Amino acid sequence: MSSSDHALMPSTLPSTQNAASQFIRLAETRREPLHFFIDGQEVAALQGDTLLTAVLMQQRRVRESEFSGAPRAGFCLIGACQDCWMRTEDGKRVRACSTPVTEGMRVLTRIAAVVTSAGAADENGEAR
Ligand code: FES
Repeated sequence: MSSSDHALMPSTLPSTQNAASQFIRLAETRREPLHFFIDGQEVAALQGDTLLTAVLMQQRRVRESEFSGAPRAGFCLIGACQDCWMRTEDGKRVRACSTPVTEGMRVLTRIAAVVTSAGAADENGEAR
């Protein structure tokens, strides 16, 4: 591993990194890139990223709480706390910390986005 793989500063972030993100990639920067969609916006990730990593490399939350609307970003990162559930555009629930991001995957961070993007969800965000 070269010194360029470590301690990335915002001015030297790779194209898969957003300056407003929760996570900063410090290693394994040379994996193959892929693209997926967050609330309809195309973004980049790297092969092997979990969905949680891929989303938090772009922004500071994976979803809004169904009860308070507060932003959630996962807690345990190991599949135990249930804080990182997300919706795909077709209404499926996925646990972001244990789901690999895949090319073309389409995820939503808001229930309202389910209705807007998929056009096939009820008031609870369940697919029809
Ligand atoms: S972050 Fe805890 S279950 Fe995913």
